[in-house]
Amino acid sequence: MKLLHIDSSVLGPHSVSRQVSAAIVERLRQETPDLDITYRDLTSTPLAHLSGSHLAAAQGAPPEAALQPDLAAGQAVLDEFLAADIVVLGAPMYNFTLPSQLKAWIDRIVVAGKTFKYGAQGPEGLAGNKRVIIAISRGGFYGAGTPMAVGEHLETYLRWVFGFIGVTNPEFISADGIQMGPEYREKALASALQAATSLHAA
Ligand SMILES: Cc1cc2nc3c(=O)[nH]c(=O)nc-3n(C[C@H](O)[C@H](O)[C@H](O)COP(=O)(O)O)c2cc1C
Repeated sequence: MKLLHIDSSVLGPHSVSRQVSAAIVERLRQETPDLDITYRDLTSTPLAHLSGSHLAAAQGAPPEAALQPDLAAGQAVLDEFLAADIVVLGAPMYNFTLPSQLKAWIDRIVVAGKTFKYGAQGPEGLAGNKRVIIAISRGGFYGAGTPMAVGEHLETYLRWVFGFIGVTNPEFISADGIQMGPEYREKALASALQAATSLHAA
């Protein structure tokens, strides 16, 4: 059983999403003997944003020498994702959506012919054979019916993009209100860590 663990917070040891994603992985490690874990930190080893040269190379144009290492990194990212049975993602909210480092990763895994295709019925996800668990951390509250709900483009985006590639039931553990004061932060973190330790292997 292969688990891919991804973090994307820029806040290092102060990050909430990193603490929660680590707790999720630790829980699944305890529950699953011989779990084969791959870790990728998208802030210490960022992927380049897609450029015209990336797209040309994907269409078969001979890549420039300078692009080769990044193309290899992109292929490694895609291979890791395709090979994973479980993906655990740390996803903080920055400016109402995901960090650009995480978007750069998503741009490497949403690949026609690999994770989705267009068929007679429209788009079809090809990566539905995975469990995806996402640790979200947000400074405020975006619950349904609140004035802020319309500004939530993190969970909604991730739900959509994973659904597009076939992961129709991503699981979310959220820590909300992190910037509302220390007592809110403490409570949200404790509750997310508790949810992580209640996960089961299947
Ligand atoms: C650059 C930046 C932008 C942020 N933008 C938002 C935002 O738009 N909405 C929000 O609720 N919180 C926002 N926050 C607060 C973070 O979502 C919150 O601190 C969360 O814990 C970040 O996750 P992390 O601790 O794993 O990095 C922002 C924080 C940073 C550093």
